[in-house]
Amino acid sequence: MTHQELRERYLAFFRSKGHAGIPSAPVVPLNDPTVLFTTAGMHPLVPYLLGEPHPAGTRITDVQKCIRTGDIDEVGDDTHLTFFEMLGNWSLGDYFKREAISWSFEFLTSPEWLGIPLERLAFTCFAGDEHAPKDEEAADIWRSLGVPDARIAFLGRENNWWGPAGTTGPCGPDTEMFYWIDSAVPAPERFDPSDARWVEIWNDVFMQYRKTESGAYEKLAKPNVDTGMGLERTLTVLNNKRSVYETELFVPLLAALREQATLEHPHRERFLRIIADHMRAAAFMIADGVEPSNKDRGYVLRRLLRRSMVYARQLGMHERWWQSLLDALRAVLGQVYPELVATTDAADRVITAEDEKFGKTLDKGLREFEKLEVVDGEAAFNLYQTYGFPWELTYELAAAKGLHPDRHAFELAFTKHKDLSRTASAGTFKGGLADHSEVVVRYHTATHLMHQALRTVLGEHVLQKGSNINAERTRFDFSHPQKVTSEELRRVEELVNGWIQRDLPVTREMMPQEKARELGALGAFGEKYGDIVSVYTVEDPAAHKVVSREFCGGPHVERTGMIGHFRILKEEAVSTGIRRIKAVLE
Ligand code: ALA
Repeated sequence: MTHQELRERYLAFFRSKGHAGIPSAPVVPLNDPTVLFTTAGMHPLVPYLLGEPHPAGTRITDVQKCIRTGDIDEVGDDTHLTFFEMLGNWSLGDYFKREAISWSFEFLTSPEWLGIPLERLAFTCFAGDEHAPKDEEAADIWRSLGVPDARIAFLGRENNWWGPAGTTGPCGPDTEMFYWIDSAVPAPERFDPSDARWVEIWNDVFMQYRKTESGAYEKLAKPNVDTGMGLERTLTVLNNKRSVYETELFVPLLAALREQATLEHPHRERFLRIIADHMRAAAFMIADGVEPSNKDRGYVLRRLLRRSMVYARQLGMHERWWQSLLDALRAVLGQVYPELVATTDAADRVITAEDEKFGKTLDKGLREFEKLEVVDGEAAFNLYQTYGFPWELTYELAAAKGLHPDRHAFELAFTKHKDLSRTASAGTFKGGLADHSEVVVRYHTATHLMHQALRTVLGEHVLQKGSNINAERTRFDFSHPQKVTSEELRRVEELVNGWIQRDLPVTREMMPQEKARELGALGAFGEKYGDIVSVYTVEDPAAHKVVSREFCGGPHVERTGMIGHFRILKEEAVSTGIRRIKAVLE
């Protein structure tokens, strides 16, 4: 089956079930600051999943372009990609579990559609926890369609719960469909989800809840269905391939690269796959208007491009190696996504500019890296500052040599140097990347100080209920029964700025959770953090006093003097008993 046939068949099937087809939204979400990229088909539909009427009705189907970088380290194996297409069908308060599951079953197994033998399929359902019950209903529907019990597994929240895409939004239990990819061995009767030969191809999510800012799960008045079938993976299994890179979506891209890769390298095949994946994702990002930069989306694009450039260099590819690769990509997907063709010149311009910027220092940086015996924070920072190596790249090059540099040490070196150079001219790192991480680190420490100041001014009942920090501001939610007066806010500012002016030391210590509790460290303790926790303490040595002590992963500045001037912009209610402060550093 070709990729185009698969798209058409999916849409035709759901049209036959009363769904309206809609076009893919861009990979850059419109009007949604909670995520950098469209990570799933449901993402552009969030307002409708929360109850707004969709102009196309209550049954929708589409093929959505998605970007996910969470599994970037696994790209190059057989199944992971940073850019992929998701086939989806939605019920916006219309049908629910029975129809969704029955249609998934029909589309997968009916000879009229995909015709996959049931023996090669297995299913997972939600095992239940304190927020939602075990999903016996979904399992019963699978059973009623002829799925044997041994092919149904119940798994927890990490596996069978979807969403929300950002920190808040619609979510619920899901049921996932797996395909047995090993043609040499018949699928075992009993489904073992940990066997990698079972590959997930489709997920039906039953959105019954909405997660709120305070972390609570509210039941949605009208539950929805959100499904996602991975186009590349499904195409792989339908054509009896082992890897997404063996499909017609990637074979021409890899051929274009292979022709140019003149050097042998122990990781040659993996590098070729990574370059093909990353450049494909980069082309889609550029087609939707992203440009490389030091922040957010631009930083992700820069990382993808620079990582590809390093590998291309290691494989001996010649100048402008990406041109034939992108030609191949446009030949494969240009008809489906005309924006790829329309932005041919833009892509060339953006990639050439990035290559010029990074290419100048790349060889020198790699030579410098080879000389290192230890890759510590300072060394990683130097590679970053002088040669434009993103932290992630240095980490990966180091890991290939069995070294594991500490991100925290890098951040600290970053903070220190940035502070020293602040008087020179801000933002003039050569080939530099973010300065936002340094700003964000300052905001982290400022947030600890604000937390403590609120407790001092308002009382010990004040506890953190949520926080969200970016390079522009800190947003902090806390428990407090009434409005904070402007006089109280002024005192909070005064306390925080007082601690900043005294340039107090900030230290980090690893200690058993018990000890952290005994020392009165604030923070959300919980099993998921393990027994040994990291605790940050701000101390006033002159007064022999602990100013703030919080359990926190960090990183933080080394001294409060690095923070800058703290100012509260706004105080407001989030919900009953929860207030929110937005504050800036200037
Ligand atoms: N939103 C679900 C997923 O991405 C369907 O798996």
